[in-house]
Amino acid sequence: METIRTIDWMKQAARQARAESRIIGFVPTMGALHAGHTALVQRAKQDCSPVIASIFVNPKQFGPKEDFTKYPRTIEADSGKFSAAGVDLLFLPEATEIYPAGFGSYVTVEGLSDRLEGRSRPGHFRGVATVVLKLLEIVQPDFAYFGRKDAQQVRIISQMARDLNLDTEIVVCPIVREPDGLALSSRNAYLSAEERRAATVLHRALTAAKAELAAGTRDSLRLQTVIRKILEAEPLAAVDYAEIVDADTFEPVARIARPCYAVLAVFMGKTRLIDNLYLEPVGDSGELTYHL
Ligand code: PAF
Repeated sequence: METIRTIDWMKQAARQARAESRIIGFVPTMGALHAGHTALVQRAKQDCSPVIASIFVNPKQFGPKEDFTKYPRTIEADSGKFSAAGVDLLFLPEATEIYPAGFGSYVTVEGLSDRLEGRSRPGHFRGVATVVLKLLEIVQPDFAYFGRKDAQQVRIISQMARDLNLDTEIVVCPIVREPDGLALSSRNAYLSAEERRAATVLHRALTAAKAELAAGTRDSLRLQTVIRKILEAEPLAAVDYAEIVDADTFEPVARIARPCYAVLAVFMGKTRLIDNLYLEPVGDSGELTYHL
């Protein structure tokens, strides 16, 4: 695996791959890698060669009181993991390379960026969309891979790709979980042993919602009640939001009649965790498929 630190060099390497008619896959990350990230690489390797990954802890997507300075930076271990997973090129820019002095252009995906995560983390999606557009412009991949744990993020990136006519197909990959159901996240590293045990409550709440749906419930309020009851019974958990939303607009829905998410954001102490259950009606039968 070759490590590239400058935009010029990264563009040149990607240009060369395109000149050889190769299919470029791209996995952007902020590092602190876990099996969810390596699953994205594995998926990319099925479709593409070369696979390019990036590690960049993007300052523009953190609020002033958020964890930018303490976000785990484990570059050596990450580099080993990406290399072992079969990444061909690792793009590892400094912040001044991505945001040189005088930088002043930002991307906002309107509407979608204001809800849920955007409401709790003002400016977050502006930072995400801006850095992802920059990375996609630099690498110009055929496919870019994102995890469904950040469902709103990937919806916003897909909207941006469509609105701005990007030549990259955005691929959404399944959530990877610990054996006890906790969704993998770099922020899980912040949890104390006690918080880590309690953090399974997100998965337990979504599993209960799934059982309620399987029993025929389609009413969002009823599902929210089931979810909240479980979350609120956990003394270490503080609910930020627990909502049933349309998978396209991320607006609340009253009934499940089209693709929807049950989305959660929950504080475990100071650590904010998110998770979701994706629901898709099958034909006209009223049956649902579940992606947890
Ligand atoms: O999901 C992430 O790790 C980040 O938000 C991303 C997409 C790499 C942009 O910084």
